[in-house]
Amino acid sequence: MKHLLKMLDLSSEEIFEILNLADQLKYEQKHGIEHKLLAGKSVGLIFEKASTRTRVSFEVGTYQLGGQPIFLSSKDMQIGRGEPVQDTARVLSRYLDCIMIRTFAQSEVEDLAKYGSIPIINGLTDFCHPCQILADLMTIREFKGKLEGLKMCFIGDGNNMMNSLIVGALKTGMSISVACPEGYEPHEDVLAFAKEFGDKFQMFRTPKEAVVDADVVITDVWASMGQEGEAEKRKKAFDGYQVNDELMKLAKPDAMIQHCLPAHRGEEITEEVFEAHANEIFEEAENRLHAQKAVMVKCINNA
Ligand code: CP
Ligand code: NVA
Repeated sequence: MKHLLKMLDLSSEEIFEILNLADQLKYEQKHGIEHKLLAGKSVGLIFEKASTRTRVSFEVGTYQLGGQPIFLSSKDMQIGRGEPVQDTARVLSRYLDCIMIRTFAQSEVEDLAKYGSIPIINGLTDFCHPCQILADLMTIREFKGKLEGLKMCFIGDGNNMMNSLIVGALKTGMSISVACPEGYEPHEDVLAFAKEFGDKFQMFRTPKEAVVDADVVITDVWASMGQEGEAEKRKKAFDGYQVNDELMKLAKPDAMIQHCLPAHRGEEITEEVFEAHANEIFEEAENRLHAQKAVMVKCINNA
C-alpha cells in the first residue's frame, strides 16, 4: 500500500493489517515503548477545510514516530491562489516524504497521487474520510472484540462518512444498514460496490427500519464543511433523522455509538444519547491518532 486515497482501494487484508498495527502502537505507547518509525521523514499536512482532530493527531502522531509534521494551510499556499495541483504535487514530492490532504474534491487527492511521487493520505474529502473509518473500525473492535458478523447502522447524509463506512463495514465482514432522505443517498460507486454483498447492505428511508438490532449506531452532521449555506434546507430534509433514546431502543441493548465529531447536539444526536456514549465517542477520537500512525508507517515505509 503506497497511498490511502479511499476505502475502496484497500483490500480486507490491508485494512486488518492497519488495525492490527494501530492496536500494537496504541498498546506500546500506553506502556512507554517508543517507535521512531518515521525518523528523518517530513510529512506535509495540507488543509483546505477546518480541522481539530485530524490536524492535531497527524501532527502529534508524526512527532511521536520521530518525524517532522509541516502544517500547510491552503490559505497561505500558492495552491490557494490557483497554482495547479499537478505542479504542487511535483514540487512537494521533492521536499517531503508524505502528504496528508484535506480538501473538497476527491479528484484533487487522486491528482496529487498521480502527479507526485510520494505517498498521499486522504484526510477527508466530500467523497470519503478513510482515516476516520479506520479509527471507527479500530474502536468498534476494541469495544466489541470483533467486527465479523456485527451490524453497523448509519443515520444521516450519504456523503463522506456514509460512503466510507459502507465500504469499511462490508470489507471487514460486518453488515450495514443506512437511512437517508431522498436526494442524500451514498455515491454511485459505493452503491455499485455494496451491491456485490447482497443483503449485507440495506438502505432505508426511515431510521427506525435501519437501526433494528444494530450493534453500532453512527451518525454525522447534517450540513458538512462547505455546505453551511444549505444548513436550513438540510435541517428540514433531515427532520426525523435524529439518533435519540427512542431510536436506540430498537438497536441491540448493548449497542455502541460512534460520531466522528464535531457533533451538533439537538440535531443529528441528542445530548442524552451523546453523553451516555461519550466514552466510546472519545475513544474513537483518540484512536484517530493510533490509526493514522499505522497508516503513515504502512504508506511511508512501503513507498
Ligand atoms: N473527525 C474529524 O475529522 O475531525 P476534524 O474535522 O476536527 O479533523
Ligand atoms: N461530514 C463532516 C465530517 C467532519 C469530520 C464534514 O465533511 O464536515
